[in-house]
Formats: sequence, structure tokens, C-alpha cells
Amino acid sequence: MSATDSTEHHPTGHTRRDFLYVATGVAGAVGAAAAVWPFIDQMRPDASTRALASIQVDVSAVEPGMSLTVKWRGRPVFIRNRTEQEIAAANEVPLDQLKDPIARNENLPADEPATDLARSAGEGRENWLVMLGVCTHLGCVPLGQAGDFGGWFCPCHGSHYDTAGRIRRGPAPENMLIPTYAFVSDTVIEIG
Ligand code: FES
Repeated sequence: MSATDSTEHHPTGHTRRDFLYVATGVAGAVGAAAAVWPFIDQMRPDASTRALASIQVDVSAVEPGMSLTVKWRGRPVFIRNRTEQEIAAANEVPLDQLKDPIARNENLPADEPATDLARSAGEGRENWLVMLGVCTHLGCVPLGQAGDFGGWFCPCHGSHYDTAGRIRRGPAPENMLIPTYAFVSDTVIEIG
């Protein structure tokens, strides 16, 4: 193909350059759809999703202050080994200041209050936070160790989560969801 082909007119009346422009636009739209797909998928799991019902994750290399993101049922799960300071910061917040006072922890009763302990992996494992990395506003993936409360920040529309993954500022209505999981050994977590 010569360089002049890039501007030749096609039978449709569009030039090659137009086509490339349109193709780029479509690619952008696909990207946007992929970003919100995990949120929609929660409501309509397909066969491949169900096939990956649970995964095991070795967290032995995740030092305090570090995080790991794994993919589970097509969605990101954040696993964070919180520092003493991060746990203390979350514990200092009076529950009546929380935008969402419910723990949103599938391992606990549906009305469990959103204390730091109820958001964590429980007594003796308060340092571990395991939750879906899906913003409860419109399903973007928040950034870790960021935002006004040192937890997560969702840049899509500015939602700030604290170090317990609780929504503290911005349009998101709920704390990020804690999925069903359990420690099957001191260093391995089974999610799902
Ligand atoms: Fe996170 Fe809108 S999707 S703030």
C-alpha cells in the first residue's frame, strides 16, 4: 500500500483516514465498557464465572503496608496487609460518622456494624483486609494507598475509602464488599 492510500476514497464515501478515526473511537468505547463490566457481572454470572468459584492465594510475601490484587470471578480482589497505624486510624473513626454503617462482609450477618474488626479478617488477623476492588458507585477499580483517608481512591468520580475500605467521601454509597473467604493456613487464603 502506498502512502497515498491513506486518503483514498472508499465506495462508502469515507476516506481511509475516516475509517481509522472511527476504529479508534470504537476501541475507546470497548475500553469504557470493560471498565464497568465487573459491576454488571455481579448480577449476571455466566458459566465461566461459576466454574472459578474459589481460588487460593498465598499471602506469605505480602509484608505489612503491602497489597496484592488477585482476579476472582473476573473481578479484582484487594488483599492488604495493614500496618498498626492503618488499623488504628480506622478504629478511631466513630461509627456514626460513617456514610455506610454496615460491614458489608459476606462472612458476617447482613446487619453487622462496620467496625474495623468486622471489616478485617477477624481477631488475631486484624491486619488483613480482603475485599472486592470494585467501587460501589459505578464499578471502577479504585487505587490503593491513596485518597484523603489513606485507603483507596476511585478517580472516576472521586470516592475516598479509608483503610478499612469504608466509603468516607464522594458519591459511592456503600463500603467495598468483603467476599466470602477464609484462611486455610497461616499464609493461604481461600476466596469464594
Ligand atoms: Fe468510583 Fe464513580 S465509580 S466514584
